[in-house]
Amino acid sequence: MPRHFLTGTELDSAELGALIERALELKAAPRSSQALNERCVGLVFEKPSTRTRVSFEVGVVELGGHPLILRPDELQLSRGEPLRDTVLVLSRHLDAVGVRTGPQAVLEELAQAGSIPVFNMLTARHHPCQALADLLTLRETFGTLTGLRVAYVGDGNNVARSLALIGSRAGLEVVVASPEGYELEPGSGATLVRDPAEAVRGAHAVYTDVWVSMGDEQTADARRAAFAAYRVDDALLDLALPEAIALHDLPAHAGEEITAEVLYGPRQRIWDQAENRRHAQKALLEWLLP
Ligand code: CP
Ligand code: NVA
Repeated sequence: MPRHFLTGTELDSAELGALIERALELKAAPRSSQALNERCVGLVFEKPSTRTRVSFEVGVVELGGHPLILRPDELQLSRGEPLRDTVLVLSRHLDAVGVRTGPQAVLEELAQAGSIPVFNMLTARHHPCQALADLLTLRETFGTLTGLRVAYVGDGNNVARSLALIGSRAGLEVVVASPEGYELEPGSGATLVRDPAEAVRGAHAVYTDVWVSMGDEQTADARRAAFAAYRVDDALLDLALPEAIALHDLPAHAGEEITAEVLYGPRQRIWDQAENRRHAQKALLEWLLP
């Protein structure tokens, strides 16, 4: 059975910890591993991407492998070839495949049908590769993960869910503050609150994401109204610990979920977090293709 990375819960706490330590090593020496020597990794994007695409493509090359960016509109998928048939063929040529798509069920179906590792490059439900970079950023900032309090302020979406599921496994205390109707479901590993101030009190990191995710465009106006009091600004950050950092998975909308002062200010680790996608995902690829 191939390894998959569909929700992130495929890794137990010890494996997660080891993966983050490995990512630190790879960050310190980006060309030190040839783990993917001559192996081919498909990267299927059904939705736009900047960070995920570039970090995976460069990461595979740094590991000595060959990345293939596959756009559905250029595949026979666009002419009606079933996904199942597509993945049966991909399994005969590739060593692993990453997928960015909407429904989590599509990803699960691919993993079932194929015979190679499948990894989640974002679905509407999960964004586990982002959570790995979030953990790496916290680990390199604070020297540990255990016991850190991370306050996520905003939409209980894919980014929040992966942070809660994976972060709690890694030893974080994750608190999510969302307005009514946009909460994360209970049982995801996070403490759920309504008030952003309550979430950030005592926090080592204050994290936010867009108010309108890919696929949510039709409800954009209602979302902007609902999230108006959930902006991460300097006043909110001031309620966290003095050493607290600001995180955002990007792309950001300065003036909406985060102010420009925070996004480009002294307390952000957001651009490091974006870089850390590559290092964390390289460690993931080593785990997926041992
Ligand atoms: N954070 C993230 O996944 O960014 P992209 O959508 O640009 O890949
Ligand atoms: N929640 C956002 C994350 C983008 C990286 C979305 O799904 O669009």
